[in-house]
Order: sequence, then structure tokens, then C-alpha cells
Amino acid sequence: MPYVNLLRSEDDQRLPRIAGPCAVVLFGVTGDLSRKKVMPAIYDLANRGLLPPGFALVGFARRDWENQDFAAEVHDSVREHARTPFNEDTWKQLAAGIRFVDGDLADPAAYDRLTSVVKELDATMGTEGNHAFYLSIPPGLFPTVLENLQTSGLAYSGNENSWRRVVIEKPFGHDLRSAQELNTIVDRVFPPGSVFRIDHYLGKETVQNILAVRFANSMFEPLWNSNYVDNVQITMAEDIGIGGRAGYYDGIGAARDVIQNHLLQLLALTAMEEPLSFSADDVRAEKEKVLRAVRVPLDIGAHTSRGQYAAGWQGGIPVIGFLEETGIPADSPTETFAAMRLNVETRRWAGVPFYLRTGKRLGRRVTEVAVIFKRAPHLPFTAVPTEELSNNVLVFRIQPDEGITVRFSSKVPDTSPIQVRDVTMDFQYGDSFVDTSPEAYERLILDVLLGDPPLFPRHEEVELGWKILDPILDFWSSHGVPEQYASGGWGPSSSYDMIAIDGRTWRRP
Ligand code: BG6
Repeated sequence: MPYVNLLRSEDDQRLPRIAGPCAVVLFGVTGDLSRKKVMPAIYDLANRGLLPPGFALVGFARRDWENQDFAAEVHDSVREHARTPFNEDTWKQLAAGIRFVDGDLADPAAYDRLTSVVKELDATMGTEGNHAFYLSIPPGLFPTVLENLQTSGLAYSGNENSWRRVVIEKPFGHDLRSAQELNTIVDRVFPPGSVFRIDHYLGKETVQNILAVRFANSMFEPLWNSNYVDNVQITMAEDIGIGGRAGYYDGIGAARDVIQNHLLQLLALTAMEEPLSFSADDVRAEKEKVLRAVRVPLDIGAHTSRGQYAAGWQGGIPVIGFLEETGIPADSPTETFAAMRLNVETRRWAGVPFYLRTGKRLGRRVTEVAVIFKRAPHLPFTAVPTEELSNNVLVFRIQPDEGITVRFSSKVPDTSPIQVRDVTMDFQYGDSFVDTSPEAYERLILDVLLGDPPLFPRHEEVELGWKILDPILDFWSSHGVPEQYASGGWGPSSSYDMIAIDGRTWRRP
């Protein structure tokens, strides 16, 4: 059976897709994200044969390093974090194109050195003037780097046969105003088609599968509305704390870190109408329509919850609380748990609450979208207390146990009169597909190098995310501090209250 690639433009159906000659310039090479995700993903792409011989990786940082020192860093990160096995030949080929530029992000002279390096690569490695600038740096430094890319001329290829692109990690701003200001700067330096804003959730196979399941089948869509759906619960739970990321996390918190981007994208994919096509413009247009229809309940205090993990035990191991983490002020108001009810004011979804929650140090690592259906209008069974039957649920299991679960009621064998009980039907990726799924970053970096934009939010989506979140963040900032919650549990008591007032409970994922 041929593959139909829903998320790729029509003229790009070839498999495998191999990037053309190019160089990736990575800013922020010493950060966790670069070492754990970006460098290993580049290696994995090379190992899968999806990078061309004319490929180069340039690291930029303030370090007294030669090319080989940076290559050693990449090597270590690949050895530790790559998905595919280490292959000496792949590594040798990749290493031949590795360069390092030592410099301060704000120093124009460093960008002159970078210019010489990429020119040298164009001449020796055949990267042909195609350069992607990957900003894996603290968000406060985005403008500095963008302005220097502009003044140094690095942002412009000077001819139409080669390209320049910029990849921007989140968070894109910390509220609507700052996101708009940043957009203005980005727009000044790069044309819209050259800007790739990363939301790595969109690179996950299981997230892309939401649209495939909804629009490649006929049996789900008729039920996908307020006539049949009672509520939707989107959960992204992590068992880890903030680790060594205090500098990034303090002042950002769970809502900005995760809800503004990943969870609102999941909401949009779950709630959007069928796009005219799977082109970037059509998919983004439908997502934007949904995000534009999202309303925050008037009583924000009653319908949201936030918390901070307290010291305690997790998996039998003692853990410290958020306020004791190194680099976190003892009175930090930053939340590590956030939950909210959002309404989608469209004909399809009127009256169906979308509950979003995320937190660190929760019971286990799990991300899922649960579509919870209304109960059957009438249950003609006498031998079972009907309240024991729960609602039908369809769960997109985003991670770690990737798949889909459907829960429904079924007859208990050998019972008369009939007794029914909840059962589940599972689709597991591993059972149906032989290959393991690529990491989100592999997919996204390859798309950047190919110039394929459907999986990258455009700035309208980012701004709509802030429009939804800003009133909640404003409310929280003027209403006390986050509630403490037990590490290893499922969040603060206010998260149970906020859903209980609607007469519902959180699903235990
Ligand atoms: C990132 C957040 O975007 O997603 C992190 O900044 C979080 O705080 C991470 O830990 C989780 O990603 P994943 O792919 O493990 O769900």
C-alpha cells in the first residue's frame, strides 16, 4: 500500500526526502537542547542518509575551542543521545564539515569570522551558500543575533539560487506584546518563508497522527462535536523536575513553557476543521481559526490552577521542592504545574470544555489527548449499577506508550442477565509499524533544510497563543502564589476543584 504523506506539500511526495547541500550554524552549542536534541538529530539524519555530502555544521559560542574541540563535543552528545547506532563512517563524513567560531553573540567581529567560515565551507564542502541559522539560545538574545545576522550580511544570500533560513526555538516572547516586538525584528531580517519557529511537538509522529486519524477515516468525524463529545482533556505530565534549567525556567513557568505552544497546538489539531489541503497555508489557516475561537472563562480563578512541586518522594527516591532547586529564589512565584479550562466558541464545540494541564514531578511521564464522549442516553441493563460504567473515551497516546486507545463497555462473559464492563481496544505503533519513529527534531531539522513549512507555527499562531494566555498570566500575577503540590502526585488540590465545579474529574492517564 503506498504511503500518503498528509503533511507534505503535493509536489513533494518522494521518499526518502534528502536535504540539498547546506550548512547549519548552531548558536548556543553548550546548552542542553543542542547537546541532547539538535546535534544527535543531525547525526541521526546523516546516519539515515538524509543529509548530502555537502553538509556542514558550524558551532558558535564563547569558548576557547578549535574545530576539533567542538567536534569532540558533538561526538560525545551523539554517543550519548543519538537514536540510531553509532557508525564510524557516518561520523567521519559529518566530522569533515564541522567548524567552530569562538565569539560573543553581541560582537560584530565574531560574525565577520563566521562569514569567513561559511564562505570557506561553500568552497571546500560544497554547501553552495545555503545556510540555516539555528537559535538555540536564551530568548532574550534572539534580537541581538538577528540584528547581527542582518548587519553582517549573513542573513542574505545575494542570489536566488541559494537560501538563508532562521530556526527559532521557543519561547517566542513572554506575552503578546513581546512576541509582536520580536516578530517585527524577525520580519525585518528574514522573509516569512525563511523563518522556522520550532514547536517540537509538531514534529512528533503521534501528534501528526491526530490529523491522519481524524481525516483519513470516516468513523470518528461524525462524532467529533458537541453532540457526542462531553469534554476533551489534554495532559502533558512529566516526572522530572526542572533539572539544571533554573535560568531558563524561573520567570517562565509551566503555562508559558508548555501550554502556550505544545498544548495549544494539540488543542488546535484536535478541534480544527478539515483543511482544504495539507499545504502549510491551509493547515495553519484552520488551526488559527480554532485558536481565534478559544475563550478563557470569565472566572479565571475558578477555572484555572497552578502549583509548585514540593519536596517529597518520587519513585521511592527523595526529591527536593522547586523552591529549593539551585538557582531558584526561595520566593519564586513561577509555577511548575498549570491547568486551565478553555472554551472553543464554534458551532462544533460550543459547550464542550477543553481542559489542559501540565506539570513537572507528576506521577509519571505521559502526554495524551483524551476525547471523552457523552454517556449513552439510556442504559437498559438491570444487573449492573450504571454509574459503574464510564464514558467512552478515545485517547491519542502521544508518548511514551505511543498509540491510540478506545474505551467502551462490553458484556461480561457468561452473565445473565447481561452485565457490562469497561474494556479497551489498543493500537500500538510498535505492533503495526516495524520502524521506530524518528525523533521530532530529526523531522523538523530535515524540514528546515528542505524548506518545508507545514510543521512550523507561523507568527499568527504564536500571537494567538499569547492572546489566550495573557489574561490568565495577568490574573495569576496579581492573585497570590502557586499552591504547593506533592511530588509524584497529580497536581495541586485546586486542579481537582477547577474540574469538579464543572461536575467532572480528571482522567488518570
Ligand atoms: C520542552 C519544555 O518544550 O518540552 C520542557 O521546554 C519539557 O520543559 C519538554 O521538559 C518536554 O518535551 P517532551 O518531548 O519530552 O515531551
